[in-house]
Amino acid sequence: MQSQITKDITIDDDGLAHLEEVLKLNLLVFGEDRLINRMDHQPILFLTAHCERQLAGFKIGYSLNRDIFYSAKGATSPLFRRRGIATRLLFAMMSKAAAMGFKELQYDTFPVKYPGMVVLGFKNGFQIKRMIWNREYGDYQIRLSRIIK
Ligand SMILES: CC(C)(COP(=O)(O)OP(=O)(O)OC[C@H]1O[C@@H](n2cnc3c(N)ncnc32)[C@H](O)[C@@H]1OP(=O)(O)O)[C@@H](O)C(=O)NCCC(=O)NCCS
Repeated sequence: MQSQITKDITIDDDGLAHLEEVLKLNLLVFGEDRLINRMDHQPILFLTAHCERQLAGFKIGYSLNRDIFYSAKGATSPLFRRRGIATRLLFAMMSKAAAMGFKELQYDTFPVKYPGMVVLGFKNGFQIKRMIWNREYGDYQIRLSRIIK
């Protein structure tokens, strides 16, 4: 069942073309209109996952410096969870960032609020780079990191 559905997922760097749907999914999942603070980073990757012609997920990232690419936000639609979509988006970002010459992918996550990305990261070779208490979120903010090739 899982592999059947997983085969039908397409990943593209075409987020701006699907901005309206992405904003709806962002609002549904995160309860906010803000996607990320700024969209004028260079370079930026704005990936979408589609399944059965519907937006199934998205992931946005940009460079922190010449070596580190940072995944700033991502989500999978509740209709398509646990089918490997976030994993596919993560691997697509790692491979595109590596092709651009970046050496490391990093992202922040909040383990109490969003446990999925911690587990997913650990399963895929990410390690904790640092952890701070984020008073605004009322949660730890964990920076995960992995070398990419
Ligand atoms: C976290 C999220 C992106 C995962 O998306 P997904 O497409 O369902 O993830 P995948 O199917 O690729 O999951 C791969 C593995 O990660 C782990 N995982 C995923 N979601 C999990 C969860 N909620 N709790 C614990 N482990 C989870 C599992 O090990 C899973 O493998 P399995 O399904 O074989 O057990 C999705 O649940 C989501 O959008 N959550 C809300 C927003 C969010 O957390 N965004 C990230 C903020 S940092």
